[in-house]
Parts: sequence; C-alpha cells; structure tokens
Amino acid sequence: MPDVVRRLRAAEHEVIVESGAGDTAGAPDAAFVDMGAAIGDPWSAEVVAKVAPPTAEEVAKLTSSTILVGFLNPLGNPEGLQAIAATGATALAMEKIPRISRAQSMDALSSQATVSGYRAVLIAATELPRFYPMFMTAAGTVPPAQVLVLGAGVAGLQAIATARRLGAVVTGFDIRSAVKEQIQSLGAKFFEVEGLGDAEAAGGYARELTAEEQQLQRDALSVQMGKSDVIVTTALVPGRPAPKLIPAAAVALMKPGSVIVDLAAEAGGNCELTRPGETYTTDNGVKILGPLNLPSEMAEHASSLYARNILSLIELGFDPSDEVVAGATVVRNGAVV
Ligand SMILES: NC(=O)c1ccc[n+]([C@@H]2O[C@H](COP(=O)([O-])OP(=O)(O)OC[C@H]3O[C@@H](n4cnc5c(N)ncnc54)[C@H](O)[C@@H]3O)[C@@H](O)[C@H]2O)c1
Repeated sequence: MPDVVRRLRAAEHEVIVESGAGDTAGAPDAAFVDMGAAIGDPWSAEVVAKVAPPTAEEVAKLTSSTILVGFLNPLGNPEGLQAIAATGATALAMEKIPRISRAQSMDALSSQATVSGYRAVLIAATELPRFYPMFMTAAGTVPPAQVLVLGAGVAGLQAIATARRLGAVVTGFDIRSAVKEQIQSLGAKFFEVEGLGDAEAAGGYARELTAEEQQLQRDALSVQMGKSDVIVTTALVPGRPAPKLIPAAAVALMKPGSVIVDLAAEAGGNCELTRPGETYTTDNGVKILGPLNLPSEMAEHASSLYARNILSLIELGFDPSDEVVAGATVVRNGAVV
C-alpha cells in the first residue's frame, strides 16, 4: 500500500511495485509512484513480498539472493516449498511468525482473521431474513437474533464483538478454557461442554480432539445449534483438516432462514454440509456459506494491515538468529527448514 511505500522510501529502500498490485484495494499505480515507488518487475528485488504462494512462473524467477515473504501455506504445500528451496532462495512464511508479544505487529494471521471475523457476521446479517437486535416497534416486539460462534481465536472473538455491537445475543465456544474469560468480557455467554477438558496445545493453539471428545462436543452443542439464527464457525487445528463441529443432523434442527458462515471452509469446513467456495440452501431452508477469501472482499483495510505487517518484518531485518525471523523461515540454503 502507498503509505508503506512512503515509509520504506524514508528508510532509503528502493521499492518496485507490480503494475495493478493495488488496484482492487483502492491504490492505483499512480498512488505508489507518488510515494516514490517504481512500477515494474519486482522479481529482481532482494526482498519480494506478496500475498499468496508463488506460481511456478514466479518460482522460476527466484535466485539464491532473493528473500521471499508471503502466505506460503507451509503445512499444506510441501511441493511448493521444495520448488522454492531448489532455487536457493530464502523464504519466510507469514503463517509461521511466532505468536509472541514482540511479533504482534507482524502477525498477519491475526490481522487477516480480524477482517474475516468481522466480515462473516456482516454477511450473515444481510443473508438473515431477521433483525439482529431486539426491536420494540408500534407493530410489536421483535426478539433479538441468537448468534453462536464456534472457535474463539482471533477471528471468533472479532465475530463475537461484531455480533454484540449489532445487538445479537451471542454464545461462544472453544476447547481452550483460557478463552472463556475473553468471550465473557465481550458480553457473550461461554458454552460449557461438561466432561470436556482443556485442549490447549503448544503455542496457544488447540490440539485435535479424539473421536470420543468430538462426539461429546457435537452432542452437547446440537441443542444450542438448533436455537441459533446464525452460526459462525472458525475452528482450526494447525496442519490438520478442520474439525467437523456441525453434523448434518444439527443443521436439520435449525429454523428455515437461519445462516451458517463457515470460515474454516478452506480447511474442509467445520460443518459437514459446507461446500467450500459456495453458498447454498439446504432442503430445510438453512443457508450455508463457505467463503474462501473474505479479506479480499474488504481489500483496502485487509491490504493496509497486511502491508504494515510486512513493513514491520522488513524493519526487523532478516537476521537468521532473531527468534521471529528464525520462526518464520521455512526455506534457507536450498533446504526446507
Ligand atoms: N501475539 C500473540 O500473543 C497472539 C496473537 C494472536 C493469537 N494468539 C494466540 O494464538 C492462538 C491461536 O489463535 P488463532 O486465532 O490463530 O487460532 P486458529 O485460527 O488456529 O483456530 C481458531 C480457534 O479454533 C479453536 N478450535 C480448534 N478446534 C476446536 C474445536 N474442536 N472446537 C472448538 N474450537 C476449536 C482454537 O482453540 C482457536 O481458538 C490463540 O491462543 C491466540 O490467543 C497470540
């Protein structure tokens, strides 16, 4: 984004921007030029920053002196990483930036999850044939919508906060007990599943539940699901398929017109009936959305935040002994590390 170009130029970096890179985020080529960037082929630069993993043609342009930075999907794209390693380039994956306080300004998973969580609730609001808040009108009183948020990491907490701001009655659930307080501090109810212990693993992430634990969770949640007007799901376990939290039987209990937004669609979905990338209505009238790239639907702020994440990483430098750089490095010296 142009503002980040300005700051890189102030630090005496040269900046080359691919033509059209900012078009859909409201930043035409001229805006970058105004801030001192050149428009051209960025692949000759020492540091190449992009959003998605490189295409085969882009990999062919890497050299042993390139440092590539981006969402490289390291756990889901081993062949892609091998191809990068074969060029001798160094690659840092934004997904692997450690979730520690010092690295918060570089945490692109969090910045993009914030966009997704917010957006998911707004999409559900426009799809829902009901109000979110309670209304007392001359024509009678309308009860508030019941919103259930499954998975209360960064995206889930943002979804809870957004739904609360719109006046819904919100219930949140996660298998990490630490989030109970965070959910409650946003004015939502925490859903307790009796007999399910804390499932927090290394780095604050969740571990995969056993088959028995998953069944316990599904059984306990099904009544709450049936009462919900909107369900937003965000549950992920790093490197694993998304846990199936909503069985078809629970969707069958929901009222016609209710909406499920499955933010885990890219990892297969939290709902058994989700079709990744599609929106469709079930036989009993429940609308299920499996969006794959919500940040791109709010491109300006998603890009601003991502660009600032990248800027912070560049400002840190690429010292391999730094904990953050070492944590994010996935390819170095011809090998996947
Ligand atoms: N800089 C920081 O200190 C920092 C920044 C951001 C996040 N974090 C931490 O990183 C961790 C991961 O956050 P995230 O948003 O990337 O998570 P994530 O996207 O990996 O997963 C989303 C949520 O799904 C939950 N989940 C997984 N399986 C589930 C199941 N079967 N049922 C219900 N919920 C389930 C997880 O516990 C998590 O809260 C959290 O502990 C978060 O607080 C730390």
